[in-house]
Amino acid sequence: MSRGHRLRTAVLISGRGSNMTALIEAARAPTFSADVSLVLSNDPAAAGLEFAKRMGIAVAAVDHRIYASREDFERSMDVLLDIHRIEFLCLAGFMRLLTPWFVGRWQGRMINIHPALLPAYKGLNTHARALADGVKIHGCTVHFVVPAVDDGPIVAQAAVPVVTGDTAKTLGQRVLTQEYRIYPMALDLIASGSAVLENGLVHIRGSAGTDDRALIQPEN
Ligand code: GRF
Repeated sequence: MSRGHRLRTAVLISGRGSNMTALIEAARAPTFSADVSLVLSNDPAAAGLEFAKRMGIAVAAVDHRIYASREDFERSMDVLLDIHRIEFLCLAGFMRLLTPWFVGRWQGRMINIHPALLPAYKGLNTHARALADGVKIHGCTVHFVVPAVDDGPIVAQAAVPVVTGDTAKTLGQRVLTQEYRIYPMALDLIASGSAVLENGLVHIRGSAGTDDRALIQPEN
């Protein structure tokens, strides 16, 4: 996907936008291969919009509640993405299910961050479910978006240890810290052309086997 210019990226949010913030901050480095050219929310009251605006990023809201159908809402978003000449999408806490039409339109050009080590713990409440199962390693995943929710080719993962006394909140915070590391890293790998989709899997160029650029391991 390397095109000799910074990949024009929109970050789609619904809420506080802390992953969005991590992406914006990473993209301030001149060596970063993507530019956060737009932050788009389905909720005009999303806290992340204010922050993005203060950072000088173009923002927009498309309120899903005023549309008759999911696809009508997405078509409006798509018009905005087109106006801003967006080439790539990062979902960052974007809480709307996407139709096959929208996913098809952006397939191979849209990634998401999920707070679990996929394919384990798709869906919501991932930290509480991981704790209830007694897993010792949890984490987060950046993946390309496909029609099935929380599925699709994995770009990067970070593993996080579960420690004695963890609650969903403490574990979630430890995972979130890693989300802020791997989401910008994954975007840069793709935008620079280092991570490429091949036959439904992500291949990291110049690596044979596991690539430590795509896997962050526990720190303790
Ligand atoms: C994060 O936990 C992310 O993994 C999930 O939604 C949450 C978004 O949080 N997809 P924020 O809005 O980025 O702070």
